[in-house]
Amino acid sequence: MRGAIAGRRPTAADLVESVVAEHRAGHLPDGARLPPVRAIEKQLGISKNTVQSAYDELVARGVCVARERDGVFIATSAATPATAPLARASAPALRALPPLKSPNKSASIQLSSVFIDPALLPREKLAECARSVLRTPGLESFYDAQGYAPLRAQIAERLTARAMPTDPSQVIITTGSQQALDIVVRALATRTVAIEDPVYSHARLLFENLGATIAPLRLDPFSGIDMDHWKRTLDARRPSLLYAITRFQNPTGYSYQTHELEALVRHSEDTGMGVLEDDWGSDMLSEGDYRPTLRSLGGDNVLYANSFTKKLLPSLRVGYLVAPEPLVPTLVAMKRLATLGNPWFTEAILSEFLDRGYYDTHLRAVQTSLDARYAHCVDALREHMPEGCRWTLPGGGPTLWLEVPRSVDLGALSARMRARDVNVESTVDHFAREGGEAPHLHGFRVSYAYCDEEKLTRAIAALGQELRA
Ligand SMILES: Cc1ncc(COP(=O)(O)O)c(C=O)c1O
Repeated sequence: MRGAIAGRRPTAADLVESVVAEHRAGHLPDGARLPPVRAIEKQLGISKNTVQSAYDELVARGVCVARERDGVFIATSAATPATAPLARASAPALRALPPLKSPNKSASIQLSSVFIDPALLPREKLAECARSVLRTPGLESFYDAQGYAPLRAQIAERLTARAMPTDPSQVIITTGSQQALDIVVRALATRTVAIEDPVYSHARLLFENLGATIAPLRLDPFSGIDMDHWKRTLDARRPSLLYAITRFQNPTGYSYQTHELEALVRHSEDTGMGVLEDDWGSDMLSEGDYRPTLRSLGGDNVLYANSFTKKLLPSLRVGYLVAPEPLVPTLVAMKRLATLGNPWFTEAILSEFLDRGYYDTHLRAVQTSLDARYAHCVDALREHMPEGCRWTLPGGGPTLWLEVPRSVDLGALSARMRARDVNVESTVDHFAREGGEAPHLHGFRVSYAYCDEEKLTRAIAALGQELRA
C-alpha cells in the first residue's frame, strides 16, 4: 500500500485515506482486492485491529465491499448512463429576482457585521451537547412541525421570566428568525406590510418577493419617531401588518420609547393591524433588556420573533416565533408546507445547552465582553470622528449607526476602507426609497459585537483619517 506516512506508524484513518487516494488516482481499480489484514500488519508493523478497523470503515463508506472468506475488494461503481437527457431539457422559467448582495468577506475587519465575534462562541460546550444528543435514543424518527417540544417549553419559560408571559403552545421554532418573518407574511390574508425606513434589508426584500405592498415609515434615530406622520401613513395605507424592530433597530440602533410602543399597541387594537415585533438584539449587552418590548406591553395582535443565531452561533439557524394561540395552526401549516419540520437534532442540541445552564453562562460572558467593546467603540468614535459625524448609542444589540456628512461619497469611502482591510457595508438596500427619493440618512452600521477592541481602534482610526481626507 503506497502513501505510508513518513516518520510515524500509520493509523486506521491514514489507511482509509491512502486507499481512497489510490482508488481515485486509478492505482486501485474497481474490483481490486486489498491485501489481507495479516500482510498489511507485517508490511507496516501495525496491529491487526488497526488494519481491520480501517477496512471496516472503507466498507461502511461504500468504497469497498467485504466478501466472506474472499477478502475486501474495491467496490464496483454504479454504471453511468450513456446519455444525459436532462442536459438537453429546457430550464423552467423562473422569476427574475434582483441579485442579493452578500457581505464582502475578504477584509479582515468586518466593521458593519451583525454577527458575533467567532472568538466568543462556546464551541466545545456545543460539541459536548451535540455528542450527548447523538447518544440519546428516540430522536431519529419523529419531528413535529411546530418544533422540539422541550425547547419550546424552555423558550416560553425564559420569555415569561422576562415579563412576556408565554405558553409553550404559542411558540413555533423556525430556521432563524428569518423563517418567522417568512411564514407570518405568507399567512397574511392581505399583504400590505408597514416597515421602518430604513430597515433590515432582507426583511424588506423578503416581503417584496412575497408580493407584499410595502408602506414605509420614516425612522430617524436622532429625532425619534414622528408618531403623527406614522399614524397618517398607517391610516392611509391600512397595512395588515407592521413589522417593527423595536429595540436596537437594524440598521439604526434605535429603540422605541415606551410612549411610542403604547401608541402602536393602541393603533393596532383600534384598527386590527397585526404587529410582528423582531427582538433580534436582545441579550447582547447587560443593560439592554431593561427596555420594554411591544409584547410585554400586551396586545393580542402582537407576534414576537427572536433567534439564537446572533448571540450563540450564526450557523445554528434556530429562531422562534411567538403568536397568539388562534394563529398558531395556520402559521405551523405554513412552516410545514415549506419544510415539513426543521432539524430536531439541532433543536435538541440547543435544548441541552439551555438545560445544562450553558446558555446563561455564555450570555454573561458575552455581555461582559460586549459591554467593554461597546464602551471602547464609543470612546474611539469620540476620539477619531471629525466634525459633522454623529452616531446612535443603542446600549444593546450588535451595532450602532454612524452618520457622516452628506459631502462624503459612501461608495468611495467604502472602497478606500477596503484598501485598508476594513469592510464597511453599503446601506442602500436598507432604504425603501419610494419615488426614487434620496435616503434621509447618510451612513452605515458599526459593529461592536464582531470586532474586538484592537480591531475597533484600528478600523475607527482609519475611518477618521479617510473621512478627513
Ligand atoms: C433585524 C433582523 N431580524 C432578523 C434577522 C434574521 O436573522 P436569523 O435568521 O439569523 O435569526 C436578521 C439578520 O441579520 C436581522 O438583522
